[in-house]
Amino acid sequence: MSDVHIRLAEIIQALSQALDLTEGQPPGHCIRCCYIGTAIGREIGLPESELQDLYYTLLLKDLGCSSNAARICELYLADDLSFKRDFKLVDGSLSQILRFVIGHTGMKVALAERFRSILNILQNGGEISTELIQTRCQRGADIARQMRFSEKVAEGILGLDEHWDGGGKPDGKAGEGIPLFSRIALIAQVIDVFQMSNGPQSALNEINKREGSWFDPEVVDVFSRVAARSGFWEVLNSSSLEAKVLASEPGQHVIMADEDYLDDIAAAFAKVIDAKSPYTSGHSDRVAFFTDIIAEELGIDFERRRLLRRAALLHDIGKLGVSNSVLDKPGKLDDAEWLQMRRHAEFSEQILSNIGAFSGAAKIGGAHHERLDGTGYPRGLTERDIPMDVRIVSTADVFDALTADRPYRDAMPISQALSILREGAGKSHDPLCIEALARALGRAPLQQATWRRSLVGRKSLSFSGIS
Ligand SMILES: [Fe+2]
Ligand SMILES: [Fe+2]
Repeated sequence: MSDVHIRLAEIIQALSQALDLTEGQPPGHCIRCCYIGTAIGREIGLPESELQDLYYTLLLKDLGCSSNAARICELYLADDLSFKRDFKLVDGSLSQILRFVIGHTGMKVALAERFRSILNILQNGGEISTELIQTRCQRGADIARQMRFSEKVAEGILGLDEHWDGGGKPDGKAGEGIPLFSRIALIAQVIDVFQMSNGPQSALNEINKREGSWFDPEVVDVFSRVAARSGFWEVLNSSSLEAKVLASEPGQHVIMADEDYLDDIAAAFAKVIDAKSPYTSGHSDRVAFFTDIIAEELGIDFERRRLLRRAALLHDIGKLGVSNSVLDKPGKLDDAEWLQMRRHAEFSEQILSNIGAFSGAAKIGGAHHERLDGTGYPRGLTERDIPMDVRIVSTADVFDALTADRPYRDAMPISQALSILREGAGKSHDPLCIEALARALGRAPLQQATWRRSLVGRKSLSFSGIS
C-alpha cells in the first residue's frame, strides 16, 4: 500500500464530533469553538505557528471528557450526557450550583438514596469537582501528547477549567498564570454553549457577566470586536462551517498524517473510548491485539492487518455517545436502554465515515455486532453480507467481552470463552476466525493471569503501530 497522506485537520475535526457526543453537546461544538477561538487568536495577532497550536487545542479541548463520565454517573446517579450538557450552562454561583445539583442528582432513584447523594455532593462539592476536572484535563493533555501535539496544546487542554480570578480548577491558577490557549478555549466554549441554547445575545451577555471572574478581560474585549464583524454569527451557524474551518487551518503549511501517524492517532483515540467506562478499560486495545493474531493466523498480509488493527481500535467509538447509566448498568437493560446501547454501532459508522482514511474502519464499526444468522444489529445482516474483515473483528470483540469483567458478571476463563464461541460457530461467528484465534492463543502462554499481565504491559505481546 502506498503511504497515504491525508490532512491531520480533517481527521481531528471528525474525531472532535465524537467528543461532542460525550459532552452531550450539539454536533459541531468543537468545530464552532475552533472557529470562535481561532478568530480571537488572529485578532490578538498571534503568529501563524501559534495559531496552528491554538486551532488544535480548540478542536481537542474535550479529549479527556470521557474519563470522568463513569464517575459522574456514580456520584450524581445521573445520565452523564445530559448532566454534562446542562452543567455547561451553570455560571458557578452558589445559587445556580445548588439548583443544578438538586435538579440533576438521582432523579430516577428512591428518595432516600437521592437525598444521601445530594447531601454528599453539597458537603464535598469542592473536592468532587476538583477530582472530576483534574481527571478530565490531565487525561486530555496526556492523550494530546500521545497524538504528537506540542506541549502548548497539552497545556492549553490542561488549563481549560481555570478561571481568571483563580476560582477555577484543578490548580486554581489565576490571570496570566493560565495559558493563553486555555483562556481562549474557555471563552469559546461558553460562547458556543450559550449561543446554541439562546442565541448570540445571550452569549454576549454571559461573557460580559463573567468578565474578570471567569474570563480574561482583554480576551473579552478582543472577542467583542470579532463578534461585531458582519457575518461572524452567520458563518458560525452555517452548514459550511466545517469546510471553512478546515480550509482556514493556520500555519505555513497544513500538517499531513502518514500511515504511522494514523496508527498513533487510532491508538490514542482508543484510550478516549476505553476511558468511558471502567468495564471497557483496555477493551479496544485488546480487541486490536486479538484481531491481529487472528488475521496473522489466517495469512492476511501486513497492510490489511494494519487497517484491521485500526478498525479494531476504533470499532466502539460510538460508545462515546451512550450514557454510562446504560454502559455500566449492573442489571438487565430495559427496552429504551437496549435501544441506546445498540445505537453505538451506528454512531461508530457515522463518525468514522467522515474520515477518508478510516472508511474501512467505518464499515467494521457499523457491523461489528452483526451475526452470520441475521440475529445481530443494527441491520440484521446475514452471512452473505458480512465480509471477512468484520468477522475477524467481531470474533475478537466477543472473545474480549467474555474474558473481561462486565457489570453483570465476572470474567470467564479462556477455555470457557472459546467453548461459547464454538457453540455459536457458523451461527454467530465465523468458525475460521474462532479456530484461528484458538490456534494463536494455543501458541501463547495461556495462563490467564500471565496473558492479562502481558496485555497490560503490552510490549511482550505487542505488535507494531499500537504503542
Ligand atoms: Fe460494540
Ligand atoms: Fe467492542
